[in-house]
Amino acid sequence: MAPSVAEVTTAATDEISRGISKLQLKAEPKEKSSEEVPPSYPFYYPHFDVTEKYPPTEIFEFTDPGTRADPKKPNLLSEGTTLKHLSPYIGSEVSGVQISKLNKEGLDELALLAAERKIVVFPNQDFKDLSPERQIEIARHFGPIQIHPTSGNAKGYPEFHVVYRDAGHNRFEEYLGANRANRTSWHSDVSYEKQPPGTTFFWILDQPETGGDTIFSSQVEAYNRLSPTFQKRLEGLRAVHSAVPQAEASRRRGGPVRREPVETEHPLVRVHPVTGEKALYINQGFTKYIVGFKDEESEYLLKFLFDHISKGADFHVRASYQPGTLVVWDNRVTVHTATNDFEKVVRRHAVRLTPQAEVPIPATS
Ligand SMILES: [Fe+2]
Repeated sequence: MAPSVAEVTTAATDEISRGISKLQLKAEPKEKSSEEVPPSYPFYYPHFDVTEKYPPTEIFEFTDPGTRADPKKPNLLSEGTTLKHLSPYIGSEVSGVQISKLNKEGLDELALLAAERKIVVFPNQDFKDLSPERQIEIARHFGPIQIHPTSGNAKGYPEFHVVYRDAGHNRFEEYLGANRANRTSWHSDVSYEKQPPGTTFFWILDQPETGGDTIFSSQVEAYNRLSPTFQKRLEGLRAVHSAVPQAEASRRRGGPVRREPVETEHPLVRVHPVTGEKALYINQGFTKYIVGFKDEESEYLLKFLFDHISKGADFHVRASYQPGTLVVWDNRVTVHTATNDFEKVVRRHAVRLTPQAEVPIPATS
């Protein structure tokens, strides 16, 4: 027999009140404010010294370690190691291996895997507890480490790029303003360098219980989705990537500018030296205009490409962080954005080591 109106109403009311109490239960446990809890790794508290200066970077020879790797990756993916793809086009998780224990061949294989999968998540790593010298030594296997011109570093160790937010620090709002409808900011790291970074290391020290993830987009798949005619039009174009806005923002807040800002032309479509894949090489953070185009033409084309890259959720992947998570990505073939979605008082503390790679190789049809 069908239930009466009264029964339905009572059931619905019960359901609603259960929902409300569930919501209250969910909302109740607030995360501790960063004002109450000190950083777990104070050594990496962001350090700024406005007197720290470096000369302009110089071109260096570069051979990608991935070119030496055994494609089967027997050192990285040995017995007891699990490789799981997080999405078809981009992102894998590797568990059961410690990066700190890999031999040189294993590190070469890591470069190859990062190039193939674009970003690889390694849970439960002891990497964060290694000495800073050892952390730098491992990352140097992949190229000379970029010293960031403006960000916080670790005192005495300019190689570390510190990412830090807590109740008193919100660099996102400082840089992009507090009036944004969404809080994403797509970029590839320091693409203004003459030899921008390749295999990049990023590990978490303190993280919110939920949120503070990083979303990555495959620049290879973004390129592959375009029509052959359009791909052909893009190949051969060059775009200017600028360090100037970042340096000016640092100067405005009294921060360091360790190297004078550069503006560099890069091919709009580049080829990866190991996989041979073509990738779009522009990003909203640093790419300013297309060389040889009128202003409106450049703005129009860049806007289309930035939208295409950021809207392509079917070639994105999301990396989230637990204590011990380390993420390795290939900065040549990805763009990424932090998700600034967690409570303002909660601390998120992470460190990046950013080995530089080759002068971008232009795609030719
Ligand atoms: Fe970044």
